[in-house]
Amino acid sequence: MENLDRTSADVVLPLLNTHQLGRAIEYFDEVTSTSDVAHKLALDGAPHGTVVLAERQTSGRGRHGRSWVSPPGLNLYMSVILRPEMRPALAPELTLVAAVAACEAVRAAGVPKAMIKWPNDLEVGGRKLAGMLNEMHATGDDLHFVIIGMGIDVNMDSGDFPAEIRDIATSVRIEAGNPVARARFCADLLARLENWYDRYLVDGFTPVRTRWAELSSTIGTRVRVQVDSRAIEGKAVGLDELGALIVRTDAGAEERVLAGDLKTLRSKP
Ligand code: BTN
Repeated sequence: MENLDRTSADVVLPLLNTHQLGRAIEYFDEVTSTSDVAHKLALDGAPHGTVVLAERQTSGRGRHGRSWVSPPGLNLYMSVILRPEMRPALAPELTLVAAVAACEAVRAAGVPKAMIKWPNDLEVGGRKLAGMLNEMHATGDDLHFVIIGMGIDVNMDSGDFPAEIRDIATSVRIEAGNPVARARFCADLLARLENWYDRYLVDGFTPVRTRWAELSSTIGTRVRVQVDSRAIEGKAVGLDELGALIVRTDAGAEERVLAGDLKTLRSKP
């Protein structure tokens, strides 16, 4: 366990069963944000599949300008550079590709109740254990690269969380009941991400959307989604062909939301 708990290239590479993702690993003890480092590497020409991993982030970033708690030695902070040949408008679909892969990896690590909260948080019983931040770099219709940033609370114990999120956060270790070797988890996650990414390129978005819906804790629940200054409330009824959440409002209208901050008002029974 000790050896397999470091996510440096020398430990992860021998465990890795992928063709492209993670074939180049840049590992750091400390970074501001793995996504910042990945962005710079991508601008410098780093190839598709390059992975940036760090033990600790000093400015870990979440969605909506939030910070991501990133203490050393416990979790996975990973950013993956993807260079898909596709229109920038389709890039949000990759968010759901990543969420499906991460949810399956967390389930396989001993948390069968892990679910996806739209668009790409992982949660167990309403407590969050992972988040993803996907950023694309495009000029007009040219998509240069996408950075998939994944933060997974792997071995945090309840006392490791700051008090303000302790009641709403959890980890793989807390849910599985035992610590998890991070290198093995990381290698498994990259293999699943590559499988789903390849499948997406060959078969399109439909299989991803179907799997996402199976793993979702959001579809069928009553939600409020904040989109800038506007709040949309209603029942989450599905995902459209771009990954937008379809919310049926009480007035009977169907609203499509591609990005926003979602609150679950009533969970599934
Ligand atoms: C969220 O749920 O708001 C998204 C959190 C994403 C956190 C990860 S950790 C690795 C990568 N580097 C960052 O600064 N953020 C992402």
